[in-house]
Amino acid sequence: MKPINRLAALSLASVLPLMLPPVVQAAQSQGAVEVVHWWTSAGEAKSVGVLKQLVEKQGFTWRDSAVAGGGGAAAMTILKTRAVSGSPPSAAQVKGPDIQEWGRLGLLTPIDNVAKANHWDSLLPETVADLMRYEGHYVAVPLNIHRINWLWLNPEVLKQAGVAKAPSTLEELYAAADKLKEAGFIALAHGGQPWQDTTVFEALVLSIMGAQGFNQAFIEHDAQTLTGAKMTEVFTALRKLQGYMDPDGTGQDWNLEAAKVIDGKAGMQIMGDWAKSEWTAAGKKAGTDYQCLPFPGSQGIYSYTIDSLAMFKLSRKNDTPGNNSARDTLAKVALEAEFQYVFNQNKGSIPVIKGLDMSLFDHCAQASAADFADAEKAGTLIPSMAFNMSTSQAVQGAIFDVVSHFLSDKNADPSKAGQQLRSAILAASH
Ligand code: GAL
Repeated sequence: MKPINRLAALSLASVLPLMLPPVVQAAQSQGAVEVVHWWTSAGEAKSVGVLKQLVEKQGFTWRDSAVAGGGGAAAMTILKTRAVSGSPPSAAQVKGPDIQEWGRLGLLTPIDNVAKANHWDSLLPETVADLMRYEGHYVAVPLNIHRINWLWLNPEVLKQAGVAKAPSTLEELYAAADKLKEAGFIALAHGGQPWQDTTVFEALVLSIMGAQGFNQAFIEHDAQTLTGAKMTEVFTALRKLQGYMDPDGTGQDWNLEAAKVIDGKAGMQIMGDWAKSEWTAAGKKAGTDYQCLPFPGSQGIYSYTIDSLAMFKLSRKNDTPGNNSARDTLAKVALEAEFQYVFNQNKGSIPVIKGLDMSLFDHCAQASAADFADAEKAGTLIPSMAFNMSTSQAVQGAIFDVVSHFLSDKNADPSKAGQQLRSAILAASH
């Protein structure tokens, strides 16, 4: 380069920052973090917005790659395409055993420096920490603990339908649903999407087969349990519940169904506690405007999912010191108390770090934290199959198919569904 050109380049470099607005300058110099997630409902978008704000407060840019679709199937498809084409995001919502799968593919990057500096080993319960490590190295940060086996109720609607007592057994659930239907309400708000169908199915498994039955069927894949009489009972109960589901629920998003309970059109919804994020976003109060109960018959069991962000190796182009610090900052703030309080209060989950003051949470979250501790002692903590905690995506997808096909074929025989489940799981495990 001739001296004159170098001089011109230098002077341009020194003038350019002055021409940019100050925020952009900081962000560009400090780097960006791109996050793939599926939190697009009102309450969930607000929750993830807290993380965005905290990252931006440190001067980094947040690139939001939200992919609509509850349960995350659409987001996972996009993530795979991005990874295969060599342009992964910095972080993506990946859960449970899938973290190990991405690790095995060599696509994740360790964040041990952040974990060590911020004492994650003592901050996190060991079972959670273990899920976040691949070959002993932290490659993901957990954000929360969601309970899945909940029933959400609108007490005013139940009262209008003459339901005197919130249901605590399956029989009481059917009786309440009958009354709601007779009074012209939607008994059960439910969106007919595979993951929502399997959420109901899983709740019934816990209620009818208990924690042990669940483990035998969905962790050990025990043939007798999968095809036995109790499984027939589960599918028979699923068919019965189908009769109470929203007739307009085909393909409907979970949050639009939650809105029907919130607006007083429906009485109940079977959904994980992210449902609470919609109630909170609508300004409703737990315990008065709505009730949360363990799914009837599954009291004492706690099925859970842990939302976590896995950290991806950046492409050569994006692998800059600035982007790496943006990712490390994201990981760091995610486990700080400030984020854990606000995020979980909005999201409906409970904090994943130990020792936070639960009196700052509403009564559903307090009940959730107490039930989690009890279930941990009793050995009835259940990693959810419907939410990627106990199975690979392939096995989970096979179960989704069987359950949803059963629901769409009104003549399907409940006593044959277990056999189909078993074959589908076997095929997907190889
Ligand atoms: C789950 C996720 C929750 C919630 C839900 C509905 O997989 O863990 O945080 O987003 O999907 O989309």
